[in-house]
Amino acid sequence: MESNIVRIFDTTLRDGEQSPGATMTAAEKMEVARALARMGVDVIEAGFPAASPDDLEAVRRIALEIGNSEDGSTVPVICGLARTIEGDIDKAWEAVKGAAHPRIHTFIATSDIHMKYKLKMDREQVLDQIARMVAHARELCEDVEFSPEDAGRSDPEFLYQALEVAIEAGATTLNIPDTVGYTMPDEFGALIAGIIKNTKGIEKCVVSVHCHNDLGLATANTLAGIRAGARQAEVTINGIGERAGNTALEEVVMALHARRQVMDLGTNIDTTQLTRLSKLVSNYTGMSVQPNKAIVGANAFAHEAGIHQDGVLKNTLTYEIMKPETVGLSASKLVLGKHSGRHALKERLISLGYTLDEESLNKLFDRFKTLADKKKTITDADIEALISDEIYQN
Ligand code: KIV
Ligand code: ZN
Repeated sequence: MESNIVRIFDTTLRDGEQSPGATMTAAEKMEVARALARMGVDVIEAGFPAASPDDLEAVRRIALEIGNSEDGSTVPVICGLARTIEGDIDKAWEAVKGAAHPRIHTFIATSDIHMKYKLKMDREQVLDQIARMVAHARELCEDVEFSPEDAGRSDPEFLYQALEVAIEAGATTLNIPDTVGYTMPDEFGALIAGIIKNTKGIEKCVVSVHCHNDLGLATANTLAGIRAGARQAEVTINGIGERAGNTALEEVVMALHARRQVMDLGTNIDTTQLTRLSKLVSNYTGMSVQPNKAIVGANAFAHEAGIHQDGVLKNTLTYEIMKPETVGLSASKLVLGKHSGRHALKERLISLGYTLDEESLNKLFDRFKTLADKKKTITDADIEALISDEIYQN
């Protein structure tokens, strides 16, 4: 793997589906997996096979149908999640083994709070379980990912120890989750840098980051982890996931894409499919996307303020750091409202087939402003009505 490529590990179908109310049918999951593969994600975490027979069956079908190609084209790794419990690992293997590139992802918590209250285990017991279960997973599958859950709140020294045990037992990817979205970007970046510096054998593995958005920092933390050396990002479409969600795939991919000259990093994602994927997942999960959501929100490429519209009409680069076509939109939108200027109105009139002389345009603009004070946005039908009034009155 080239070190300037960040692998995109999509967990929409696992962590994303854990969003309250986001359950998808087997057919919908298959469609999302197909679209993710087409878009170029490197790994699809297709589910948690031990969670239910339905989950196991969905992962099994995705492994067989999406994880293999008939024409020799590249297919993503298909991954199943498992606790560090033999039964979970066996079910994960049963589900993913039909894929050309199967992966078992196994996890156990390493923070004192989780070990004491949730697992009721001490550090030695946790280390022993990691050693035995990662080794078991590795006997079944060559590609094993290990996650120390709640790494963001774990004692770093213990974390290094836990990761070393996982490496010795055969883990090939080490994923560092900020499970409760508690860390700040500088802290998370330092955590990843510390892990890379202090964990023996880590150079044999891919370091991955997995962030949650409880404080609205998931994307910032993921990017901080990448800057510190992580080369896999675990993300979901539209950032869906437990509580406030996971890191949004489209945000990380476009941050790396928009700043590629500065960061010298990229992904294998075909960014022109981002909007389509966002709509697909939103429709299937019933979770609508907020209009001001970065990259895929309805307003992400819309301009209403007169000064902005004027700038964009002269050169889109004045107010757009990405071209709308890059994310699969045909063009940016100039929304007509009370903040809009004469220039934007004139452009819209031209696109509707009207070329007005200066005096008529000025008169229409006054009436447009009066109407805009009463309505949130002015539609093309409103403009047609204003024009007819103008013609009728003259
Ligand atoms: O957030 C988390 O810790 C997880 C792990 C299972 C990786 O989702
Ligand atoms: Zn998670």
